Amino acid sequence: MSGADRPAAAGPLSRRTVLGSALALAGCERPAQSAAPVSAPPLQSAAGFPVGAAIQAAQLQDPAFAALVAANVSQITPEWEMKMEYVVADDGTFRFDAPDRIAAFARTRGLRLFGHTLVWYAQSPPGFERLDEGRVRFADAYRNYILALVGRYRDVAAGWDVVNEAVAEDGEGWRDSLWAQRLGAFEHMVLAFRHAREADAAVPLFLNDYNLEYLPKKRATFLKLAERLLAAGAPLGGLGTQTHVAADLAPGTLRTAIGEIASLGLPVHVSEFDVSLSRARGPRRRPELEAGQARVYAEAAEAFAALPAAQRFAFTFWGLRDKDSWLKRENGADAPLPFDDQGRPKAGAAAWAAALR
Ligand code: G3I
Repeated sequence: MSGADRPAAAGPLSRRTVLGSALALAGCERPAQSAAPVSAPPLQSAAGFPVGAAIQAAQLQDPAFAALVAANVSQITPEWEMKMEYVVADDGTFRFDAPDRIAAFARTRGLRLFGHTLVWYAQSPPGFERLDEGRVRFADAYRNYILALVGRYRDVAAGWDVVNEAVAEDGEGWRDSLWAQRLGAFEHMVLAFRHAREADAAVPLFLNDYNLEYLPKKRATFLKLAERLLAAGAPLGGLGTQTHVAADLAPGTLRTAIGEIASLGLPVHVSEFDVSLSRARGPRRRPELEAGQARVYAEAAEAFAALPAAQRFAFTFWGLRDKDSWLKRENGADAPLPFDDQGRPKAGAAAWAAALR
């Protein structure tokens, strides 16, 4: 799924649950506004590791947003404009206008750029699907795409999500995809890492996935895949755990998951952190949801900070202001991010920073 279906303790979010949660959230005393703003230090100043945020090129035109980014993070991840859905046109040509603007923003402000994402089951644009001149032509196009994209940002990239969401939700093996069908279930992943390394001799290359905290079996399969890639000689240099979670996440869940993911000894990237209010189970009042959210923010900070310094690659928020969150498309009342719509810090940001003191 091009996103994180929060399993209902296990199992996908049912429509009834979504509606139930949404109605519960919407029925809270407070309007669908995020909580009253609080005081909190800039995120990066509170952390002894790189802090990142997902951004879109258009957002960077807003001086207030650009200032919020520069004040709070040292790394940016293109939320969608370095994916095939943007870069690969239907005729197979590439467009780099928006990614170039994002890279230029990173360069002029001395920010790290985290590339996201080269190979994803959820995106197989017509530019590739139409390549039916056999395996060689497809393999060439696959390599050319990766060489072109990774090579273009070699000067500013601090890392790349090379393969995204490869593991099946039930942990039984890996997802099917155009890439697996045309180049091999495992081989297409090894090739992607090799092509990325060919394009950039040093950049850390990541395997990234979601629900690794909710689904221990999926997490185990993710770690086995990482070990298999290493054994095959793939230049795997880090593990990304997206961490799209909800405000009712059971205490200790993140500590366990992040600790296990770090057990391979590779750098760990909390790569897409947000804490949904509306995906929390059951009828809850908004203040209770916001308190739960702050608790999850704090546990995420503590768990990540507890890693050895060499393994603390970065902690990336999947957006900074609530209004920019992808989760708003599911429920307009959701407020998963560290800043409110006006860019003011919320209780989650304060709890996250306090946990790092
Ligand atoms: O901005 C354009 C707009 O101009 C155009 O009219 C519209 C219709 O095509 O598209 C808009 O772009 C959309 C973009 O989000 C910005 O809103 C793209 O269609 C849409 O596909 C894109 O969705 C992104 C999604 O990944 C798919 O790429 C989300 O923003 C992004 O939050 C989401 O992020 C994923 C991670 O990559 C992987 N993990 C899960 C996570 C959440 O789904």
